[in-house]
Amino acid sequence: MTTSANPSAMPPARATPIVALDFWMADAALQMVDLLGDRCSFYKIGSELFTVAGPTIVQQLVGRGKRVFLDLKFHDIPNTVEKAVAAASELGASIITVHASGGERMIRAAVENAGPACEVFAVTVLTSLTSADITAAWGGVRETGDLSADVLRLALVAQHAGVTGVVCSGLEAPMLRDRFGANLKLLVPGVRLPGADRDDQSRVVTPAEAAQAGASYIVLGRTVTSATDPAAAMDKAVASLA
Ligand code: C5P
Repeated sequence: MTTSANPSAMPPARATPIVALDFWMADAALQMVDLLGDRCSFYKIGSELFTVAGPTIVQQLVGRGKRVFLDLKFHDIPNTVEKAVAAASELGASIITVHASGGERMIRAAVENAGPACEVFAVTVLTSLTSADITAAWGGVRETGDLSADVLRLALVAQHAGVTGVVCSGLEAPMLRDRFGANLKLLVPGVRLPGADRDDQSRVVTPAEAAQAGASYIVLGRTVTSATDPAAAMDKAVASLA
């Protein structure tokens, strides 16, 4: 497995902000899209909103000229993932996610069926998992509680299978940027504006820190959508990425 990383050869492009539409109702999600207007052109639809609103919400956003990150984190046999990813890219998704732990054949099935306008990102280790969780599920020994070896191993599997990039926390981003350079894009959730509430996220970075760590895409969730003034919060995030 080679990655031929040369981080200094190509400076990372400017990070693109993606707003996470974590709403239970399509109407609330579309109101947020209208409220943000031209401030945001890329939205994340996760399993909550997709389960409630279905494929129509993806088509509605695409119809409004927005790009969609369909974050359904596929993890199944290759044949099923192949069909699901083909359907997602047919709907107009620009980014879809799979779990790297689904294995190289499954990830490759996603990559080969995503279509030219749809990037595949792999989730390595969910940030909600502890080293005890990982050991209980997969075995091995992780005495220090450090999951970076697991993250790196899964990122290598995903890269070998041809993904565009991986989803990672802002704290893992520098390690992955050092290892893979421009060969693997980084998509970073768990982002908070300076001084904003952390909510239930324990390891957060600011948009500027995520960008400096090499993120190509930055997911802005409640730090924008639950702000008293979401448009002002979005302006602040965009300004900090300029
Ligand atoms: O509101 P908040 O910024 O915490 O939302 C973050 C978004 O990113 C949510 O949609 C969440 O599901 C997603 N996410 C995350 N951590 C990950 C992967 C995805 O917070 N490791």
